[in-house]
Amino acid sequence: MRELKIIQPDDWHCHLRDGAYLSRTVPDSAAIFKRVIVMPNLTTPITHPSAAKKYRERILNAVPEGNDFEPLMTLYLTDETTPHVIAEAKASGIIHGAKLYPQGVTTHSEAGVTKLEKIYPTLEAMSEHHIPLLIHGEVNDPAVDIFDREKYFIDKILTQLVKNFPSLKIVFEHITTKDAVLFVEESSKNVAATITPHHLYYQRNAMFMGGIRPHYYCLPVLKRQEHQLALIAAATSGNPKFFIGTDSAPHAVTRKESSCGCAGIYNSPTALALYAEIFATQNKLHKLEGFTSLYGADFYGLAHNQKTITLREISKNVPETLSFGDETIIPLKAGQSVKWDII
Ligand code: NCD
Ligand code: ZN
Repeated sequence: MRELKIIQPDDWHCHLRDGAYLSRTVPDSAAIFKRVIVMPNLTTPITHPSAAKKYRERILNAVPEGNDFEPLMTLYLTDETTPHVIAEAKASGIIHGAKLYPQGVTTHSEAGVTKLEKIYPTLEAMSEHHIPLLIHGEVNDPAVDIFDREKYFIDKILTQLVKNFPSLKIVFEHITTKDAVLFVEESSKNVAATITPHHLYYQRNAMFMGGIRPHYYCLPVLKRQEHQLALIAAATSGNPKFFIGTDSAPHAVTRKESSCGCAGIYNSPTALALYAEIFATQNKLHKLEGFTSLYGADFYGLAHNQKTITLREISKNVPETLSFGDETIIPLKAGQSVKWDII
C-alpha cells in the first residue's frame, strides 16, 4: 500500500457557486484544498471588487469551524471593465485574477467579452498591476466544430494576444488538446495552463458509453484519446507551466439530466484521488506534489502552503449522490470507487 506525503494542494480553478451550493462546495473543497481560485461566473457575474468582497464573505461563512480555507477571488471581464476597476481590484488585495469568457462560450458567459480589442486598455492595466488573465480558451462561433473550438481560439485569438501583451501573465484554463499543450510549452514563462482531472482521466467516448451520459459533459468538451495522452504527458512532466485546476462545476441533477443539460462536472471530492491515480499509472507519483501544491502558487506569486497531507493507495467508495439544500448533485465517479484517499 503506497503512501505519499505532499504539501497541501490548492485548486487553481473552481466554481463554488452561491446560495445553497456553498453549504456543499465550500466544505468539500476545504476538506482537501488550502486555497481555491474562485470562478466569478455567478448568475450575476462578479464584475467589481465590491461584489467579490461580499461573495468572499459568503464563502467564508460556509467554511467549517477550525478550517483555514482561503478563497482567492477573481473578476469577470466584460466589455465594460475599465482599467480603473483593475486598479481597484489590485488595491482590494483579495483579487488574484480576472477571467475572460468570450461571450456565449460556456455557462453564464452571456456577459462575457464580445471582442478582445475592446478591453485592450484593461489588459494593459492588468499587465501593469500584475493581475493574471485567466482564459476560457474557446471560440464561440457556432460554425466551428465544438471539438475544434480550443484550437481555433489558439490560432485566431491567443497567439496574437500573447504577442501584444508579452508581460501579461496568462493562465490558459482547463486545456484539453495537444495543440494547447504545445502552445503553452512554446510560449514564454508568463503563459501557464491548468488541467482538470476529468480531461486526464476520460476521453470523449465517456459521454456516450451505452447511451448519452450528461454527467461527463463539460466545456471545453472531452476530446479524443490523442489529446488525453498529450495532457497526461504534460501534467506528469514536471514542467511548472502545467498545474492543477479542477474546474469543479456543480449543477443540480435536474439541470444536468434534461433535454438541454448544463455543462459542468462536480469533482471536488474525487479530483485529488484521480490526479494521484493518473500520476501513479505513469510512474510519476514523485511529480504529483509539484503539480498539485507548488507550481500554481509559484505562478500566482504566492507562498507554498505550510501543512502537508498524506495520500494512501486505498479504495474509497464515492457516493451515488451528494445533497445541498433541497437538491442533489451527481459527483464524478458517483457509485464507483477511487484508488487514493487522504489519511
Ligand atoms: C463551467 C460552469 O458550469 O460554470 N462549466 C464547465 O463545463 N466547465 C463553466 C466553465 O468553466 O466553462
Ligand atoms: Zn470553469
